[in-house]
Amino acid sequence: MGTLTNKRILLGVTGGIAAYKSADAVRRLREAGAEVRVIMTAGATEFITALTLQAVSGHPVYQHMFDTGAEAGDVQGRTSAAGGRMPRAAMEHIDLARWADIVLVAPASANFLARLAQGRADDLLTTVCLATEVPVAVAPAMNQQMWSNAATQSNLAMLKKNGISIFGPAEGSQACGEVGPGRMLEPADLVKLVSDLFTTGELDGLTMIVTAGPTWETIDPVRGLTNRSSGKMGYAVAEAAVEAGARVILISGPTSLPDPARVQTIRVESAQEMYDAVHAHVRATNIFIGVAAVADYRPAQKAGNKIKKTDETMTLELTRNPDILASVAALKPAPFTVGFAAETEDLEQQARQKLKNKNLDLVAANRVGPGLGFGTDESSLLLVEHETVTELPIQPKTKLARALIHHIAARYRAKKFATVHVLRRP
Ligand code: PMT
Repeated sequence: MGTLTNKRILLGVTGGIAAYKSADAVRRLREAGAEVRVIMTAGATEFITALTLQAVSGHPVYQHMFDTGAEAGDVQGRTSAAGGRMPRAAMEHIDLARWADIVLVAPASANFLARLAQGRADDLLTTVCLATEVPVAVAPAMNQQMWSNAATQSNLAMLKKNGISIFGPAEGSQACGEVGPGRMLEPADLVKLVSDLFTTGELDGLTMIVTAGPTWETIDPVRGLTNRSSGKMGYAVAEAAVEAGARVILISGPTSLPDPARVQTIRVESAQEMYDAVHAHVRATNIFIGVAAVADYRPAQKAGNKIKKTDETMTLELTRNPDILASVAALKPAPFTVGFAAETEDLEQQARQKLKNKNLDLVAANRVGPGLGFGTDESSLLLVEHETVTELPIQPKTKLARALIHHIAARYRAKKFATVHVLRRP
């Protein structure tokens, strides 16, 4: 698993000799786990063909504002493997802007930087940069005189002021024969810088436990009770927490997902095993997030052999499983404790009840319905706390998880500060 697993990178390629390195950049971004889509400006096509970038990215390349055929194979609303809706033909600038986690323009020519600094929307790439809410980074590449020119430098100052990350350039001999600053950074350096953009440091030095997936409660050697949780939400939360700087222990029920990078993953089957694994690690934990869909009951008896059918009906006696979340919240001292709730109705009310009954810091409630909740790539969350309610709208679970972790980090800090303040009061 790479550092960019499940990340969606929109790579803009503009006109410059360094465009030949874009193919390598795409390859390396994909090797790091990212899904990559490419937009080329008209100038870029003078240096490298769309076919090359299509071949290395595995997807058609976007070039024009109203190019209805660009994603001929992707129909409206289709969901990608990494989550998130695919761009729709003729609405590309909005859909591409929403699809991406990061926009990287490499190489970024002097002309492109000037247009971006002015907020122009005169081609697909500049329009997407204007329409997106996600971070935008540019890797300038140009002749050293053009780089040093006061106009370019003032454009760069404007871009920095507008929150755009500037990667490079490097110094050295240039394609034009001159020597100086203006060479595009090497693709390997760009991959590292893009990975760093996902690292917020909001949870530096903290330890977190996340539970994820379903549990499996054995009936007999071939049957069991379980549910439709895929683990996608919990794994996304674990990945987002690592990116925020936390040391993360993911305690997962049975899923088909690979272990996330840089996460200590402990695989369990039943609710009791999940409970035991949580309590083996929770004492040193600052934050606990229960995303798992834990079975409330298990069969009272596990049959040693496969149960044969005999009568027309059969009765299965169930016994209560321990409530992992409530047991963590009851610890003294307890970590900052976050529960999840999946509900079909009365979302806020149900969440508020769980918040109170289990004595939690926060409940992240998600609506269950067609395309939402169990097994899906997208979801929305209502963050219910004692004093406030915050809504996170429908989006890919990867993005939702990042927004949730950002929220939790702020609340954790506020609670810790308040506690220290009270302890110090004479
Ligand atoms: O895995 P995905 O396919 O991505 O789906 C994600 C999800 C829908 C499973 C997830 O977003 C979610 O909502 N998880 C909680 C599901 C739920 O309804 O849980 P609950 O109401 O049974 O429990 C509420 C809370 O108590 C949860 O935090 C749960 O982890 C915890 N709990 C419940 C029972 C139990 N015995 N122990 C627990 O810790």
